[in-house]
Amino acid sequence: MMDISTELLGQNLDNPLMNASGVHCRSYKELEELMSSAAGSLVTKSATIERRMGNPEPRYSATPLGSINSMGLPNEGYEYYLEYAKKHDYKKKPLFVSLAGLSLEDNLKMVLAFKETGLPCILEVNFSCPNVPGKPQLGYDIEAMERALHKIAEAYGKPFGVKLPPYFDIAHFDQVAEVLNGVELVEFVTCINSIGNALVVDTESESVVIKPKNGFGGIGGDYVLPTALANVNAFYRRCPKKKVIGCGGVKSGNEVFQHILCGASIVQIGTALYEEGPELFERVTKEFQEIMQRKGYNSLKDFRGKVKTM
Ligand code: DHB
Repeated sequence: MMDISTELLGQNLDNPLMNASGVHCRSYKELEELMSSAAGSLVTKSATIERRMGNPEPRYSATPLGSINSMGLPNEGYEYYLEYAKKHDYKKKPLFVSLAGLSLEDNLKMVLAFKETGLPCILEVNFSCPNVPGKPQLGYDIEAMERALHKIAEAYGKPFGVKLPPYFDIAHFDQVAEVLNGVELVEFVTCINSIGNALVVDTESESVVIKPKNGFGGIGGDYVLPTALANVNAFYRRCPKKKVIGCGGVKSGNEVFQHILCGASIVQIGTALYEEGPELFERVTKEFQEIMQRKGYNSLKDFRGKVKTM
């Protein structure tokens, strides 16, 4: 009776939950564990052209309110994820592939390689990695992002999505939405990546808690939920022809419900998945269904985007 299915780019997801890119998705083993979990879909670790070891450890640390990380794009190189995409069982779940080229040329090379395969995997181009020393996030250079989006759309020629950093000013929501609305092939936006370049300090040791970049890293978890909901809703309101994937601060059914109420069609989970592992999807799905049942909702469209204002 209760239907929690959702749809993106003509592909059906039985369940709106999936991992956030970067968490539990670097190796085939991890991707296969997501395939056998209750998640409705999955996304790969952001790929670069070459395999990367990433930044020195410790590079992730959990805190009582979330996490901080500066992984530095450790990944197996795009050809590894392209091979996975060839083996993936698309009848079971859609597959997203995250791309984070270190230059526009790298991104163009990767999207062309995926285009050539003709596979139905969905590209999520990441303009928001905060952790590569010397490489600012393209998402905060709106003109450079606009140029890149047009070039990528032209090269790829198929619908795709963009992973954005959080924005904190209404003028920035307006400017970024205008850029996105100018690129028809951008069919979805994933909001948000971690809040970049935060600093967690431990009083006892009088030290930062991760090694790269003098302790600076992206934060996720409880710290970011209101920022994530604001970004989801800001782009949901401004981009009526696009879909929004919500990401940030989800650890139970409650935050899934809030993301969808703000306009999300799919909800990704990062920090909580890192801490709990893929069994989390069963728990969160159950909690979310209980909230829908209590409120008498039968499908996501009954409440998607319907957050009330005063
Ligand atoms: C990494 C972190 C990110 O937030 C991201 O979008 C891509 C990569 C990383 O440090 O590996």
